[in-house]
Amino acid sequence: MSGRTAIVLGATGLVGSELWPKLVGRDSPWESVVLLARRPLAALPAGISCRVIDFDGLPETFPEDIRGDDLFCCLGTTLRQAGSREAFRRVDHDYVLEIARILTQRGLRQMLVVTALGSDPDSRFFYNRVKGQLEADLSNLDIPVISFLRPSLLLGERSDSRPLERLGQAAATPARGLMRGPLATLAPIPAAEVAEAMYRIASHEVNERPVQPGIRRAVIPSSEIARIAHTTDLQSLGGMK
Ligand SMILES: NC(=O)c1ccc[n+]([C@@H]2O[C@H](COP(=O)([O-])OP(=O)(O)OC[C@H]3O[C@@H](n4cnc5c(N)ncnc54)[C@H](OP(=O)(O)O)[C@@H]3O)[C@@H](O)[C@H]2O)c1
Repeated sequence: MSGRTAIVLGATGLVGSELWPKLVGRDSPWESVVLLARRPLAALPAGISCRVIDFDGLPETFPEDIRGDDLFCCLGTTLRQAGSREAFRRVDHDYVLEIARILTQRGLRQMLVVTALGSDPDSRFFYNRVKGQLEADLSNLDIPVISFLRPSLLLGERSDSRPLERLGQAAATPARGLMRGPLATLAPIPAAEVAEAMYRIASHEVNERPVQPGIRRAVIPSSEIARIAHTTDLQSLGGMK
């Protein structure tokens, strides 16, 4: 056991709900896991706890005793759910950055963030711009190791209704196997594969490189996420630099 603590943002979502059970699995290097959420999660197994936090009151309301070594972020909303561009940006950018900043001051060692295909601070598309700005701002914090995972359209069963996304999934899923070479990174990807890749990248870091000086950043496109989720070659994970 590494004695490390993992913190998860977005644990109730499509990717997050696939991720957190892995962190308390038999081979997991994490000793404790803390889910930060806006509502309580019931019936959690041993070794995992949920802390309800006031996202809108950040940074002042963030509890003083929460700290961790590895932060997994699967948090995000949609423009439709958020209701405005400002509200969307507050969730997908400000909440994440505020929490990362506080935890960095408390000794964070590694962060993995799900952003999106096309993340670019200069993108003409608002969604991609917010995700790109998040990547850029997180890169300016002193987090020793960061992995930005940029999936294409996520595949998986949702409880909420997202008609456009469902249409996209229905159209793109049959074509998934045909999207090879340069098209591979556009292929939709199961949320479960994103979660598995996050787990593999982070646990490899904990197990194989627990102490390494300097700052390392990796940007992991969708095709690479899918490869990592199925690989046994753990040496080349994510092209970490
Ligand atoms: N959907 C796609 O096809 C797609 C493609 C590429 C990248 N992404 C990105 O991948 C990441 C994970 O996506 P996902 O589909 O797994 O997300 P999701 O299922 O929509 O889950 C989002 C998570 O964020 C939390 N959240 C949303 N609004 C919040 C708020 N105002 N305050 C606190 N927590 C809030 C949700 O908590 P509650 O359960 O409390 O709502 C949930 O845990 C997101 O950043 C998304 O932008 C998605």
